[in-house]
Amino acid sequence: MPRDLLADKKTLEEMPPLSKEPAAASPPPDPMPLYRMPVSLLEERFKKMKDLHPYALLLNQDDLDDCDWLEHASFEPHEAASREKLEYRLTICGELCSGLFSSAYPTETGPLGSLVKARKFPSVDSADSDRKRLLLGHVIATKTTSNIVTDSSMDFPSDWRTNYQLGPPVGHHEEGETVCLHSLCIHPDFHGKGLGAVLLRGWTQRMRDAGIGKRIALICRERFVEFYEKAGFKKLGPSACKYGGGGWFDMVMEFENNGDEDDI
Ligand SMILES: CC(C)(COP(=O)(O)OP(=O)(O)OC[C@H]1O[C@@H](n2cnc3c(N)ncnc32)[C@H](O)[C@@H]1OP(=O)(O)O)[C@@H](O)C(=O)NCCC(=O)NCCS
Repeated sequence: MPRDLLADKKTLEEMPPLSKEPAAASPPPDPMPLYRMPVSLLEERFKKMKDLHPYALLLNQDDLDDCDWLEHASFEPHEAASREKLEYRLTICGELCSGLFSSAYPTETGPLGSLVKARKFPSVDSADSDRKRLLLGHVIATKTTSNIVTDSSMDFPSDWRTNYQLGPPVGHHEEGETVCLHSLCIHPDFHGKGLGAVLLRGWTQRMRDAGIGKRIALICRERFVEFYEKAGFKKLGPSACKYGGGGWFDMVMEFENNGDEDDI
């Protein structure tokens, strides 16, 4: 009970000790935006990314080869999105997708030097064709009218190349208010350096600030629940999605002031 309701007690000694509200009653803390994080914490976080100098950009069809490679290097074949599904998402709603990039010359040593020699990459700009643009991670997303990720939102229309629809029965729904995060992955050579957390945090912040929807929803395996909780998502429970054999958990991040927090 607040102390001012015990005003008849004259001295501090007569009052019961202050107690905190039970943890369960308080809403989960919002993840702190990077720009508000104390410099000492940021330095610790970025130490592991030393020399990578990552930067985020929107994705589009030109990134298809790199996204396709990364998706299939990161997920089991039955979970990875097909090349055509990725092409659909990058073409129809690339503005919802983000890539985390770095750049390097083939003469460089270290992990970026090894990566740049491993495959063919596009140049950063035409004035310096030797400097290659390297995709280190991606977030691929669509929008749905449902409040959670469903099998139809995971799918895509077979005639999407010839028949554009604002609200097709499956796939991206332009007027949907839920952003579905379908794929978050970091190049396997660069795991554990904080890139996944930074990409996710930057992307969720962009979705929130741009007013693109009312919430972000995703499905994930149980082992990733904590990872997403740390980024501000709430676990809702087992998902009804049968994609990739099922066994997923629904998670959601509601944007504050969206006016209908209770309608999930
Ligand atoms: C999941 C993934 C994106 C994480 O990226 P990452 O750059 O390696 O992760 P980070 O270094 O940013 O780690 C951030 C936090 O998540 C935790 N984490 C990372 N990978 C994890 C995993 N596989 N399971 C559980 N926790 C994990 C880290 O321990 C770290 O915790 P900390 O902040 O307390 O130190 C990356 O492992 C990946 O691409 N995996 C393959 C694709 C995949 O499964 N994506 C998730 C689909 S739902």
